[in-house]
Amino acid sequence: MYSTSIYAGAVDAMVQWWYGHNAVGFFLTAGFLGMMYYFVPKQAERPIYSYRLSIVHFWALIMIYMWAGPHHLHYTALPNWAQSLGMIMSIILLAPSWGGMINGMMTLSGAWHKLRTDPTLRFLVVALSFYGMSTFEGPMMAIKTVNALSHYTDWTIGHVHSGALGWVAMITIGSMYHLIPRVFGRTEMYSVNLIAVHFWLATIGTVLYIASMWVNGILQGLMWRAINPDGTLMYTFVEAVEASAPGYFVRLIGGLFWVTGMLIMAFNVYMTVKRREAISHSAPQAA
Ligand code: HEM
Ligand code: HEM
Repeated sequence: MYSTSIYAGAVDAMVQWWYGHNAVGFFLTAGFLGMMYYFVPKQAERPIYSYRLSIVHFWALIMIYMWAGPHHLHYTALPNWAQSLGMIMSIILLAPSWGGMINGMMTLSGAWHKLRTDPTLRFLVVALSFYGMSTFEGPMMAIKTVNALSHYTDWTIGHVHSGALGWVAMITIGSMYHLIPRVFGRTEMYSVNLIAVHFWLATIGTVLYIASMWVNGILQGLMWRAINPDGTLMYTFVEAVEASAPGYFVRLIGGLFWVTGMLIMAFNVYMTVKRREAISHSAPQAA
């Protein structure tokens, strides 16, 4: 038994990355933007800055994201024009991404002071900042000359997690802190201070992760391309892996920060749910 792809070679690669990049745009972005548009106004108690901009944002993302896939296939057998088209569409993608980010941020006008006392809102706003940061970094990495350095290195992994941890995880956690007390009939979480601790663990953890991967990525890219005057490679691959070890250690610390934060959240959620039971025994709430 063997399988045969319907598409061959470069066409197959392009089809795969059409789905691959749409996974970023629609699994890791669109649904979380939906959460942003609902939970940021709810938590800030302010109407969304511009409903009209949100419509433009939605349709622009839908129409532009699916052209950006070729930036995963720079310097491959994919035709050069397709690579350049992917690069240009990726740079254009910065505009709707930042339009949406600014729409979320501006929703806080008049409510910025709430950040001092409300760590749930901090989760949502910092998630938006990471969304802005990763959608700035992405178009830069899509430029072919930049990608020549970043591709295959830990820089990509750093970019992935500024999206995955900074944006996707933090907007989800902020939304859950908003939702859980309401779902269980409480006015707020068991401990707002523990949310603040979780916020700092998640933020510092993410920064440790992405900063160490930037350093590693640029280091690896430069080591791989360094050549001696006679044209031979200056470093072996293993030397680049050895040089990356400190960065991996810093990433480990970042990951441990994250795990600790999630355990604190689990405790906080457990106590919030449990406390409701205790209260409903002593003082039943009106329906
Ligand atoms: C304007 C928006 C964005 C653009 C133009 C963009 C561009 C890029 C580029 C150029 C790469 C490197 C490709 C390579 O060298 O192999 C990349 C990788 C990646 N990006 Fe983005 N990015 C954007 C936003 C995001 C966001 C918001 C997320 C996550 C929430 C994300 C997740 C990823 C992932 C998972 C990869 C790695 C794919 C792989 O496994 O090879 N990107 N992106
Ligand atoms: C503290 C939490 C996390 C840690 C420590 C972590 C760590 C890692 C590591 C070590 C890799 C392999 C990188 C490599 O191939 O060199 C990876 C890959 C990946 N992670 Fe995470 N991760 C975390 C959370 C997440 C989350 C929440 C998401 C999604 C929302 C995610 C999405 C991905 C993706 C898409 C890749 C593949 C990237 C690629 O190969 O281009 N990660 N992660």
